[in-house]
Amino acid sequence: MIEDIVKRLDPLPPKSKLIIFGGGFSGQRIARVARQLGTKVLCSRRRENSKGADFIFNADQECSNEIFEGATHVLSCIPPLLNGEDPVLLKIKNQLLNTKNLKWVGYLSTTGVYGDTKGSWVNENTSPNPQQERSIRRLSCEQQWVETKLPLQILRLPGIYGPGRSAFESLSNGTTKMIDKPGQVFSRIHVDDIAGSVLFLINLFSQGKNPPVINVADNLPTNNLEVIAFAAKIAKKSLPSTIPFEVAKKTMSPMALSFWEENRKVDNQLLCKKLGYSLIHPDFKSGLKHCFSKL
Ligand SMILES: NC(=O)c1ccc[n+]([C@@H]2O[C@H](COP(=O)([O-])OP(=O)(O)OC[C@H]3O[C@@H](n4cnc5c(N)ncnc54)[C@H](OP(=O)(O)O)[C@@H]3O)[C@@H](O)[C@H]2O)c1
Repeated sequence: MIEDIVKRLDPLPPKSKLIIFGGGFSGQRIARVARQLGTKVLCSRRRENSKGADFIFNADQECSNEIFEGATHVLSCIPPLLNGEDPVLLKIKNQLLNTKNLKWVGYLSTTGVYGDTKGSWVNENTSPNPQQERSIRRLSCEQQWVETKLPLQILRLPGIYGPGRSAFESLSNGTTKMIDKPGQVFSRIHVDDIAGSVLFLINLFSQGKNPPVINVADNLPTNNLEVIAFAAKIAKKSLPSTIPFEVAKKTMSPMALSFWEENRKVDNQLLCKKLGYSLIHPDFKSGLKHCFSKL
């Protein structure tokens, strides 16, 4: 329930206005929570008829100055372009730089920038070492945002899941693959905790607690087989047989393969211990139960 997230959070200061570039899965959730907290929010999508499109933002159109009037907070949830440029900065960097009262600018990045650590933990002090092209582009976009010298905070996210985007969808449509790669783990984050931590971090930022980079991950990096088995158990679905990774990789898309080729655990101590954010879904079990309740 959105109310469960909202009651854990403090409202943003009166007259705050948050502009979200990229109102997709995470962007829409963040917008909903912020609105419930009483903040004015404008959310972009690429097409007029997309749900929750308060304004259109894409590569072919200028962005009206009106959008930025009174803006106090800006968040980008848009991935890099294929040439490594950041689509938001490419189109509206000057408008952002000319917005007088910006108190916080957030950029949703990925933990892919840490590269493969062969299963070791990474935290915010770990030097980025991206190996995949898309992670190299991502690190370049982070750098483009840093160079703006705006009051920036970068949130690095692992695999995002939530209602409508979880193991239940593939179990229902028969596309679940039980890939067995011993020792492989994935970190993940429930979309409600992205929304919760964005709003939590915005308030801390204004109190001077403003680390430039924060990992937003749950407590329990886990092997994929365990996650699927748990989902199947609560959905009372049978599990397909396991496929060894060495076999599965022969038919994987390059994108899927790139995820399986990296193994790391994402440390959330900065967010949860030092800054004090309390996860709504500390692990995949809590998060999947929530997703199941929304089916
Ligand atoms: N999915 C994951 O597991 C994962 C993991 C780590 C990090 N991330 C990153 O975290 C951010 C949020 O993830 P998400 O899964 O919530 O994203 P999402 O649902 O895919 O939404 C992405 C948003 O960006 C917009 N967008 C994409 N390319 C654009 C472009 N060139 N110009 C303008 N708008 C563009 C989309 O527009 P439309 O609404 O019109 O489609 C959408 O609103 C993204 O940067 C994503 O790459 C994702």
